[in-house]
Formats: sequence, C-alpha cells, structure tokens
Amino acid sequence: MDSVWAGLAAITSHSEYIWAGLAAITAYTIYGAIWRLYLSPIAHFPGPRMAALTNLYEIYYNNWLGGKYIWKINEMHEQYGPIVRISPSDLHVGDPEFYDILYPSTTSGRRANKPPSLTKFFGLNESLFSTMEHDIHRMRRAALLPFFSPTYVRKLQPIFQDRLDVLLRRMADFKDTDKAVNANCMFAAFSRDIMEMLAFGQCSHRLESPEFDPSERDASLSGAQSFHVMKRVPWLNDVMMALPESLARRISPALGSYMRQKHKTRELVAQLASKSEDEWSGREMPIFRAVMDSSKLPSHEKSVERVAQDAQMLLMAGTLTMASNLEHLIYWMVDNPDVLRKLKEELRSVMPSINDVGKELGDPSKDIGRHDQRFGKGSRVCLGMPHGYGILRLVLAQIWRLWATPDVKLGDEIGVLGLYNTSPHDVQMKGDFFVGAYNKAQGVEFKVRSM
Ligand code: HEM
Repeated sequence: MDSVWAGLAAITSHSEYIWAGLAAITAYTIYGAIWRLYLSPIAHFPGPRMAALTNLYEIYYNNWLGGKYIWKINEMHEQYGPIVRISPSDLHVGDPEFYDILYPSTTSGRRANKPPSLTKFFGLNESLFSTMEHDIHRMRRAALLPFFSPTYVRKLQPIFQDRLDVLLRRMADFKDTDKAVNANCMFAAFSRDIMEMLAFGQCSHRLESPEFDPSERDASLSGAQSFHVMKRVPWLNDVMMALPESLARRISPALGSYMRQKHKTRELVAQLASKSEDEWSGREMPIFRAVMDSSKLPSHEKSVERVAQDAQMLLMAGTLTMASNLEHLIYWMVDNPDVLRKLKEELRSVMPSINDVGKELGDPSKDIGRHDQRFGKGSRVCLGMPHGYGILRLVLAQIWRLWATPDVKLGDEIGVLGLYNTSPHDVQMKGDFFVGAYNKAQGVEFKVRSM
C-alpha cells in the first residue's frame, strides 16, 4: 500500500494522472476478467465464454434484439447440457427435476433469497414481488395471504360475475356491427376492473368505456417492456419518479405513463389510508386497506409508500397476465375445433340451457401439476393463482357456452365468434419482456355475428 501512495506522490503532471488512471482501469478490468473466467464460484460451469465474461452478451440478445435471450439459452442447453452459465453471475438450469431445489416449498424450512437480477426492474423494490430477503418476503406475503386463499376467491365470485356480465353484454353489443373487437383490450379492461375492485373496493369501469380504455394496460405494458433496460439501470426508475410527470413523459412517453400510473396508485392507497374502519361496515374491506390494519406487519411496513408498491404490483401482476392468457385462449380455442367441441359438450352437460350461464364456478384450487411452471413454484409461487384459475374457468365456461364458432356449433348459442385479421404467425411470441410480446402487437381480434 505504501508503495502505491509513494507512486501517486511521485506523479507531477496531468498526463501522468491520466496514464495512472488508465493503468488502474486496465489492471482492474484484466483482474475482473480473470476472476469471472477462472476464479468465480461458477467458473467451472459450461457456457459461452463471452456470457461468462460480460453482461453485454445478454444485453445484445435482450436489449438489442428485443427479448430474445430465452431462445439463445435454449440453444445453450442443447450445446452444453442441463446447467449453463448465462451471465457472469447467473446459471440457468433446464431440467424440471430442479424446480423443487430452486424453489423451496414453504414447509421445507429452507431459506432462499431472490437475486437482484430477478427483482430490481419495476422500481417497486419494497413490493412483495421485488423483495430479495427471504424473511422479509415471508412477512409481507403472510399479510397478503388471507386475500389469496381459494376460500376467499370463492367469496369474490359476485365481483368476478358482475364484471363478466358486463363483458358478455359488451360482446353481444358488437353482434352484426362488423366492428372488430380487440380481445387483449377487452380482457385487460375486465381484469383491471377486477384487480381495482380487490385492491381498492372500487373500479374505473374500463369495461364499459367504448374502446375498453387501454390507457392503463398500455402504461403497465410500458413498465413491463422497459424491464430489460431497468434491469441494467434500476436507478432510472427513481429519477423518473422524482421528475414532474410532464417532463418524464417528454423524455420517454412510455415510461412517463408508467410513472403516472404509479403516482395514481399511490394516491388511491393514500385515500384508503385516510378512511376509517367504519366506512366498510357490512362490506368486504379492500385488500390494501385491510393490510394497513394487519397484525402481521410492523408499522413501518404499513406506510402509504410501501403499501402502494404492493398495490401497483398487484395491478400489473393481475392485469397483463390475465389479459394475455384470455386473449390467446380465444385464438387457440377457435383454431382447435376438436378441443372446442369437447369443451362445449362438457359445458352443455353442466349448463344444459344457455340461461344457466352465470351460475357456476369451478374449483379454483385445482392442483397445477408437477412440471407446470406458468405460476412459478415454492415460496414465490404466484399469489394470485387461485384468482387466475377461478377467473379463467369462469370466463371460458361462459363465453364458450354462449358463443359458437363457424366450425363448432351446438345450435342454441347466441351468435358466432370468428377470428379477424389474426394469423397463426401473429400469435407467435417474438420476445420476452417479462410478459410475452407477440408478432401482432395490438393483439388477437374477432368479430361476432348472428347464428
Ligand atoms: C394466468 C395468469 C397468471 C400467471 C401466468 C401468473 C404468473 C406468475 C408467476 C410466474 C409468478 C412468479 C414470478 C417470480 O417470482 O418471478 C407470479 C407472481 C405473482 N403473481 Fe401471478 N400470475 C397470474 C395471475 C395473477 C393474478 C390474477 C394475480 C393477482 C390476483 C397475481 C399476483 C401475483 C403476485 C402478487 C405475485 C408475487 C408473489 C411473490 O413474489 O410472493 N398473479 N405470477
């Protein structure tokens, strides 16, 4: 150390400082490269040397080519085997048997933190989803758990059905108008309304608006789609949040609208915080008001700021996922007449008349199967899985009992639903942006007509 100080003291001119700086950076870079390639605890795992050396490898596929790294990782598994090193700090395991090790169950007692590369990109660092620390995650999850049990979901059926009744009415209004319905916008409005009802006890009735008001869907999508950038520069979220909304929008319209959404969510949570318990007498208290009374959380966890992050997370988690699933289910059911025919016949056996529609909800707690990874696994498994299954079943059952397709008709339906301007190529996924991006960005479209 003394010799370093002695060396620095001997520097007398500006150019010598610059050379010393460059020499230090070069030495640090060479040391970093040697460490990553040969000394890191994951150095012995196979994979492309460039991926081990620098994050630029992943950045090229995800930021430059647009969410393409998942396919490259698949190729790596074909070349190198079930465990590959995909970045200087990450391994990827392509063997379903590994799920139980990677995602310890809540009963296993094993503690597992979530890495920053899987958490720090929505600017919601204090939300349940982004919590890295195992024990803090357990505490936050425990406070939300009562609102995500299958029993609670059954209690929510009237809320789901109320929104679904509007959705079915809206579909019927389009009959014989020759107007195309954008399935993604319609289902995003539907799920967003439901999520707002759960979160705040009120909703903005997007489903009733003429074009299903996709503004909030677009804002959430902007948040999700900027995730490859935010993963690299997470502080950008704080900078954007600190800026006036108009300036943030001017810098990046997409991020600006995401910031607007976050501000709005915070306002709604602040309104909830200002209401007394009596306001809810005789009514179910909305999740983010009840959380503020939770005995599972210490008081600093119940601040408007922190709770608003969980609320924003819930709105995003429950809207984009559900809209995309429901939209693509419309496409695949129409495109697979044999599957649809079987479904429709089963539906007729439980709802013999179309007037029975609206009276049935399947068991939302159905097991998801060992290798089904759609909802994650273990202690971080999707909290809204019972809601997800409950809503998917309800919507599919009622839409397909009421509507026929050009190829599949029972005869007593109220009309025919046909795909419009949507090809098999359109519904292929083209990129991973936390949610999937598809070839046809505006989504599946359909038209409805009389039988
Ligand atoms: C088909 C629809 C859905 C799919 C495919 C899905 C998928 C997932 C996945 C894979 C995760 C784990 C993410 C990770 O840790 O990296 C997750 C977490 C989460 N999901 Fe869902 N989800 C869906 C619907 C919903 C709904 C409707 C809600 C709310 C009612 C919801 C709320 C959440 C929450 C709060 C988390 C964070 C859980 C935690 O970190 O402990 N999801 N979801």
